[in-house]
Amino acid sequence: MTRTELETPHGRCLIIDLGDPQIASLPAAEQVLAKALGEIRQRELVAGRTALRELLGTREAILADDRGAPVLPAGFVGSISHKGSRAAAIVAPAGLGHIGIDLELAVAPRQPIGRRILTADEQRTIGDDGRAVTLHFAIKEAIYKAVDPIVRRYVGFTEVSLVVGPPGECSVTVVDRSALPVTIEAWWTELEGHWVATARARRR
Ligand SMILES: CC(C)(COP(=O)(O)OP(=O)(O)OC[C@H]1O[C@@H](n2cnc3c(N)ncnc32)[C@H](O)[C@@H]1OP(=O)(O)O)[C@@H](O)C(=O)NCCC(=O)NCCS
Repeated sequence: MTRTELETPHGRCLIIDLGDPQIASLPAAEQVLAKALGEIRQRELVAGRTALRELLGTREAILADDRGAPVLPAGFVGSISHKGSRAAAIVAPAGLGHIGIDLELAVAPRQPIGRRILTADEQRTIGDDGRAVTLHFAIKEAIYKAVDPIVRRYVGFTEVSLVVGPPGECSVTVVDRSALPVTIEAWWTELEGHWVATARARRR
């Protein structure tokens, strides 16, 4: 098992690679969740829940809400992402907004996703930089996980526009503020060949 801890502006983050995640290591209620999934999703669930539980310092089961988000113990907010055998989790005290995390390979996308996930402004800024496309994707997925628990609806990739600076810096503009009444912050870094993106959102 490998583990890397990160302090981010949105909470404490843990990235783990369990090698061979085992359902038997989960609390009984989570085993029920896991058994309903296919093999790959089972391994993801074990790794993500293991990272989140370690950050929380709990042995309690972490179930999922009706939209798929993890249900944190009272007093905490948190989020999970997986990529291959790695999982990332983030936790923060409740009260400052909902948070999200995403982990992606820091390489150009295998499919041409740029036109689907980028606003016209972002497409102009990025040009043909494929790694910038996956970085924008990671930041927007982290944003989605922070925003969905507030608005409880699908949020499209072009509902927010990013200006991505050097590591740690990203400004977020909500394109239609009445359709998406939230304030969003985002952060990112590159770690061991992966983008790690985090976000925090609050109702405006
Ligand atoms: C839900 C979604 C963000 C998951 O991302 P992914 O890259 O497929 O998968 P990841 O491994 O990064 O994340 C999966 C985790 O997201 C979390 N998640 C799922 N639904 C969620 C929701 N509605 N809200 C918050 N977190 C959610 C879960 O913890 C899940 O892991 P688990 O089932 O093991 O607990 C993605 O599939 C999706 O539907 N995106 C919607 C569109 C979007 O991102 N728009 C951008 C708006 S700016």
